[in-house]
Amino acid sequence: MVKVTFVEPNGTERHVSNAEEGQSLMEVGKANGIDGILADCGGACSCATCHVFVDPQWWERVGPPDEVEFAMLDMVADVAQDMSRLSCQVKINAQLDGLRVTVAPASDF
Ligand code: FES
Repeated sequence: MVKVTFVEPNGTERHVSNAEEGQSLMEVGKANGIDGILADCGGACSCATCHVFVDPQWWERVGPPDEVEFAMLDMVADVAQDMSRLSCQVKINAQLDGLRVTVAPASDF
């Protein structure tokens, strides 16, 4: 099992320790009722309601979005940041044990 800390939009820190390798970060968030991870498209990279900001110290291990995800993040450019990722596109692996992300606020777009 892999541990992940989610910071919800209101600042509440939620520590979960039941993430499984191969799951997406979005699935972990949904399974644990993390506030702000809506995942309206079910993980198809087409809604951006699973948007998170990766903690800077984890960015290298998580890595940048691909072109499709980057284009989707552009749809929420009002709230996107340099370390934005769509959590449905981040796969949990052992290297991410201890990962910390902040759930992005909802976009006005
Ligand atoms: S769940 Fe829709 S883009 Fe991630």
